[in-house]
Amino acid sequence: MKLFRGLWLSVYSLPLFLLLSQILGQTEGFDYVDPLIGTVNGGHVFPGATLPFGMAKAVADVNGENQGGFASDGSDIIGFSHMHDSGTGGSPSLGNFPIFPQSGCPGDIIDNCKFAQADRAAGRINGTVEAHPGYFAITLNSTVRAEMTVSNHTALYRFTFPEKPLEPNATLSPLILADLADLPNSRSSGRISVDPITGRIAGNGTFSPSFGVGVYELHFCADFSGAAIRDTGLFRNNRAGAGRSLVVQADGVNNSPQILPAGAWTRFHVPTSKGQILARVGLSLISVAQACTNAEREIPDFDFTGVLESAEDVWRDKLSVIEIEAGGASNALQTAFWSGVYRSMISPQDYTGENPLWDSTEPYYDSYYCIWDSFRSIHQLITLLDPLSQSLMVRSLIDIYVHEGKLPDCRMSLCKGFTQGGSNADIVLADSYLKNITAGIDWNKAYEAVVSDAEVEPLNWGIEGRGGLQSWKSLGYIPTDDYDPDGSGPMTRSVSRTVEYAYDDFCIAEMAKGLGNTADYEKYTRRSGNWKNMFKADQTSFINGTDTGFVGFLQPKFLNQTWGYQDPILCSPLLNFTSCYLNPDGHETYEGSSWLYTFFVPGDMAALITTLGGPQSFVKRLDYLHDSGLLYIGDEQGFLNVFLYHYAGRPGLSAKRTRFYIPSQFNDTLVGIPGNDDSGAMGSFAALTMLGIFPNPGQDVYFITPPFFESVSITNQQTGNQATIRSINFDPEGKNLFIQSAELDGVPYTRNWLQHKFFLEGGTLELVLGPTESAWGTRDEDLPPSLSTGQGTMGMDEFMM
Ligand SMILES: *[C@@H]1O[C@H](CO)[C@@H](O)[C@H](O)[C@H]1NC(C)=O
Ligand SMILES: *[C@@H]1O[C@H](CO)[C@@H](O)[C@H](O)[C@H]1NC(C)=O
Ligand SMILES: *[C@@H]1O[C@H](CO)[C@@H](O)[C@H](O)[C@H]1NC(C)=O
Ligand SMILES: *[C@@H]1O[C@H](CO)[C@@H](O)[C@H](O)[C@H]1NC(C)=O
Ligand SMILES: *[C@@H]1O[C@H](CO)[C@@H](O)[C@H](O)[C@H]1NC(C)=O
Ligand SMILES: *[C@@H]1O[C@H](CO)[C@@H](O)[C@H](O)[C@H]1NC(C)=O
Ligand SMILES: *[C@@H]1O[C@H](CO)[C@@H](O)[C@H](O)[C@H]1NC(C)=O
Ligand SMILES: *[C@@H]1O[C@H](CO)[C@@H](O)[C@H](O)[C@H]1NC(C)=O
Ligand SMILES: *[C@@H]1O[C@H](CO)[C@@H](O)[C@H](O)[C@H]1NC(C)=O
Ligand SMILES: *[C@@H]1O[C@H](CO)[C@@H](O)[C@H](O)[C@H]1NC(C)=O
Repeated sequence: MKLFRGLWLSVYSLPLFLLLSQILGQTEGFDYVDPLIGTVNGGHVFPGATLPFGMAKAVADVNGENQGGFASDGSDIIGFSHMHDSGTGGSPSLGNFPIFPQSGCPGDIIDNCKFAQADRAAGRINGTVEAHPGYFAITLNSTVRAEMTVSNHTALYRFTFPEKPLEPNATLSPLILADLADLPNSRSSGRISVDPITGRIAGNGTFSPSFGVGVYELHFCADFSGAAIRDTGLFRNNRAGAGRSLVVQADGVNNSPQILPAGAWTRFHVPTSKGQILARVGLSLISVAQACTNAEREIPDFDFTGVLESAEDVWRDKLSVIEIEAGGASNALQTAFWSGVYRSMISPQDYTGENPLWDSTEPYYDSYYCIWDSFRSIHQLITLLDPLSQSLMVRSLIDIYVHEGKLPDCRMSLCKGFTQGGSNADIVLADSYLKNITAGIDWNKAYEAVVSDAEVEPLNWGIEGRGGLQSWKSLGYIPTDDYDPDGSGPMTRSVSRTVEYAYDDFCIAEMAKGLGNTADYEKYTRRSGNWKNMFKADQTSFINGTDTGFVGFLQPKFLNQTWGYQDPILCSPLLNFTSCYLNPDGHETYEGSSWLYTFFVPGDMAALITTLGGPQSFVKRLDYLHDSGLLYIGDEQGFLNVFLYHYAGRPGLSAKRTRFYIPSQFNDTLVGIPGNDDSGAMGSFAALTMLGIFPNPGQDVYFITPPFFESVSITNQQTGNQATIRSINFDPEGKNLFIQSAELDGVPYTRNWLQHKFFLEGGTLELVLGPTESAWGTRDEDLPPSLSTGQGTMGMDEFMM
């Protein structure tokens, strides 16, 4: 999902702690992470406190661009809530049960405090935001400072109140309210209660997911520490008063019962120490009781410093598998790099033990938001840095298949999300399968799941699986005017669905081969060639009446096998860029043009290059894609195109493109990503590109380009082995951008790509760099494998069977 941007801001920041830690001579990856990158102009990054893949995600929620809760846009703060998604495109996600502090009620009259969201919205004091992994803080214009940290299922807030409240005629008697609301205002019912003795506020609500169907129920349990309880009560429809519990539900009269304010409050005497009150909010998808026990178990004593230190330690540990020798590369580049790594470990979220939908001993991860975005680089980075988590995610995907009947393409908040193109979990599973992600995984069951995607059409293929499977099997493409009696879904995107289904089938073929299923291998290999059925060899492309000179593009095709027409630049930034979503208005490609999708044959680039007229004209066309404005790198499908020069024997041109996009589009500023982060997709692209090992997703292939740092090392967590890529003649400006020669553990290495066994086994790849393109990696035998050159599933046999 994408939201495109209009206006650009330019904001530079050099965090003070970074300067300090450098002066002290001890800088590690952790110190470079800036969670605020991408918190303006459509990045929608969640910059708050979270553990890696944690369920609790605490931040200040704003009434501005609040998809990720907070935005660095100067908008007002409406609450502090405990669960979020990061980088989503459409409506905001989660943000349930926000709490909000006030120092005192004007005139000391309870009803004079502000309860409704619109009333309580408070400005921020500029310059007070502080964010690093595990921690977020901001000061409201009431001068209340709010700090937060988390454990797995619990948020811990520390509010520091002023001695003298700013509220008129008020004395210090802090009030903290909890609101039965969420960010998208999706509540359809809710219940809340407050305990007059302990001040505990607990409750639950039924809400809707932000890019999917159905509803989910969430529970919370808030406890306080630091001041004696003065009184407690409720609020409803803008009036506050006494009482212990209330229920809200759709009344059948008001169309939007969800927006009616309702909640509970606890008021305190003067805090006993430093003006501070702690609020601990436990969360659960099972029950209030479990939300309370989660909180009591994880944070028994409200020890803010202790919880923060353990959160920081977990992050330091996660990031420590990478070692960088910058070789003079700027702080800005290092900040962009480490922040990208960090952001790829925010989601999917570990809800194991919190899944009310089915009984299972398998792990349960949620917020696969969406796999259409994350199959391209997020899961590959997680596989490199945290293979155990990747194996748990794979197991959870398989368990979702077992209990829901299909793998998800997008899933959030226990609900099925919308499918954007193919059944791309197939690619994630194949990728892990080829990369020795094995722990606890039933690969036969996984294979059953991907074959179900390929063979069995669900009734609603708008939320899982694939549509048009009858045509797919009989005609070998998705007709624009398909006849599909088996199921329903948005009848658009026939071109992009065709090429995605084809690549999904390629990935299934790889798994079939590894599992020794020759018949299936041949069947799905054949079907992976279906992209050709949508390639119209004589299709031209004009821009503003001028012939681009390139001939042959994907085009829509009807059921009767005649061609339709879609301008090859439609849905690109040059023509109707923002109108190509799931909406039924005639476009047959999704979030991108036929120009772009014509390059999407990741399993058989050799055949595509031949189809497009050979390596030279392919390179010319790829250059045109990048240089003409047709390609938007802020959408994930742009990523792979940076590296396709490798298949044309020009790895140096891929290297040049890496510097074309970084740092100009991926950098350390608040606007430092070109599109929605989509759960860390932009971050993972920047990180893998700067490491010089961008993957071809779904294959055991990493394209070698010179890393942005003199030396990069990754320690594999399965084997303990360390793989290092070191550059000779490294120059931090990137002028020596071209690999002249390479040695792997002292032996000349001429392939322009690596396999995952390098990371499993460890070793040193030494690159000799220079200022001009060389012959290195250019011969046919140096190129990454392609199906039609007979090497399409290379690598697997070495680990599997
Ligand atoms: C705070 O920053 C916002 C921009 O985010 C700006 O509009 C506003 O004027 C600033 N306020 C002060 C008091 O500097
Ligand atoms: C201030 O609060 C006191 C106590 O409630 C009240 O008697 C007084 O009228 C208030 N004064 C103003 C100016 O609001
Ligand atoms: C705080 O911000 C709110 C919302 O912008 C505004 O209404 C209020 O006047 C501000 N209060 C102070 C003390 O600046
Ligand atoms: C938090 O969850 C992770 C797994 O996601 C687990 O390894 C870790 O032990 C948990 N932390 C605590 C304190 O329970
Ligand atoms: C939902 O919240 C209400 C009010 O706190 C509570 O009585 C009820 O038990 C909760 N339901 C569950 C399933 O926890
Ligand atoms: C693959 O993983 C298994 C267990 O996780 C391990 O025993 C085996 O050595 C690994 N293979 C390679 C090539 O590292
Ligand atoms: C096409 O023409 C319009 C209007 O003259 C211009 O704004 C646009 O930049 C042109 N596009 C290209 C790709 O040349
Ligand atoms: C094929 O189908 C399309 C779309 O329904 C229609 O416009 C076209 O006339 C048909 N062509 C032939 C030759 O039947
Ligand atoms: C582009 O979008 C406009 C407005 O939605 C629409 O009228 C027009 O038909 C679209 N152009 C094409 C070629 O689809
Ligand atoms: C940083 O990236 C953003 C978003 O891609 C871009 O608009 C901006 O110009 C870049 N800033 C710098 C200093 O390169």
